[in-house]
Amino acid sequence: MSDYLYQQHQQFFAQHAGGAQEAAATELASLGATAIQTGHLGHYFKADPDTLYRIVYTTRISTRILAPLIHFECHSQNYLYKTAQQIDWREFLTLTKTFAITANTADSKLRNATYAAQILKDAIVDQFREHYGERPNVNPRFPDLQLNLYIHQNRARISIDLGGGSLHKRGYRQESVTAPMQENLAATLLHISEWDQKTPLYDPFCGSGTLLIEAAMLATQTPAATLRPKFGFLRLPDFDPAHWNQIKTQLNQNTQPLSPNLIAGSDIDPAAIHAAQTNINALPCAKNIQLTTSDFRHLPPLNHHTIITNPPYGIRLQTPQQSAQLLKEFGDYLKQHCTGSTAFIYFGEPTLAKKLGLKPDKKWPLRAGNLEGILARYPLY
Ligand SMILES: C[S@@+](CC[C@H](N)C(=O)[O-])C[C@H]1O[C@@H](n2cnc3c(N)ncnc32)[C@H](O)[C@@H]1O
Repeated sequence: MSDYLYQQHQQFFAQHAGGAQEAAATELASLGATAIQTGHLGHYFKADPDTLYRIVYTTRISTRILAPLIHFECHSQNYLYKTAQQIDWREFLTLTKTFAITANTADSKLRNATYAAQILKDAIVDQFREHYGERPNVNPRFPDLQLNLYIHQNRARISIDLGGGSLHKRGYRQESVTAPMQENLAATLLHISEWDQKTPLYDPFCGSGTLLIEAAMLATQTPAATLRPKFGFLRLPDFDPAHWNQIKTQLNQNTQPLSPNLIAGSDIDPAAIHAAQTNINALPCAKNIQLTTSDFRHLPPLNHHTIITNPPYGIRLQTPQQSAQLLKEFGDYLKQHCTGSTAFIYFGEPTLAKKLGLKPDKKWPLRAGNLEGILARYPLY
């Protein structure tokens, strides 16, 4: 089989986290995607190869970009196996390359995603065995080819994951804290905040520095995948290395230095500040971020700032009362010391928003893993 689905229609699929639908669509359009249509936790879009490389290299909000190979009715494991064998996997893999499969199933006869992935794996390795008497290996952590199997209402879609894995793994996270924010979520918060990249930005609960680093990447126009060692699109049969190198060089040349005093943050925990500094050091564009170890209660005033942060929630603190008390005091700090600023606060536990004692003028529901969080905006006068 050749002439895969993505080749017939130049259509791809961009996955995103819950709540990021609008932000993801706006970002895709700004990167040159056309015919954007909303699907389940993602958008279908059209793109020529150059636009596609640009999207995979620079998207901050999408978590995966998929190139669909085939889709088909799939009511049984036998049918999955047989249909998967119609693809000539030698177009994507050799015996020395590794692969891995992520799978999701919903509302379908094949209910177990791990089992469905196993069937697809068997179809691939059996095909290689028939041809060569040997098979390529699976490498779940750093595969050369990352496949995605999605079965919804008994329709299956097999795709190549063009980033070669989840794009939230930017490569700068060397050290972490207990509840780090996911990189795509931090980028979504920044997108929603419409930060103008001129107003000083501050995170008073910066933890491992995710929001600060994503802000630095945004302000310096650093491609989100700048540190990524491999891309899944390298394995496409029609991959064009000359065009990819041109796009990559162009985007790398567009990066700007980070103005000193534009982005800063603090945290009460010296270990968190150490982690944030280590992560910042991994990314040259972030080196002008200023960090301080401090309780927010001891910070100087933050007038005329964009404050963007996620305070600790329930699981990190000993009691709900302590959580409520901390947020009340943070609300007082915002009221008393942040004139002319706008605060964007992400609450992993939405009921905690009330404890701040301030009224947001807008709220956005945004999922983080299995947390139904919200982002709330507070103009401070
Ligand atoms: C939910 S985490 C923030 C995670 C961060 N966004 C990241 O990506 O790593 C909350 C942070 O608040 C810090 N914290 C708790 N109490 C604080 C206080 N009174 N002042 C400043 N930071 C505090 C914790 O040390 C923790 O790192």
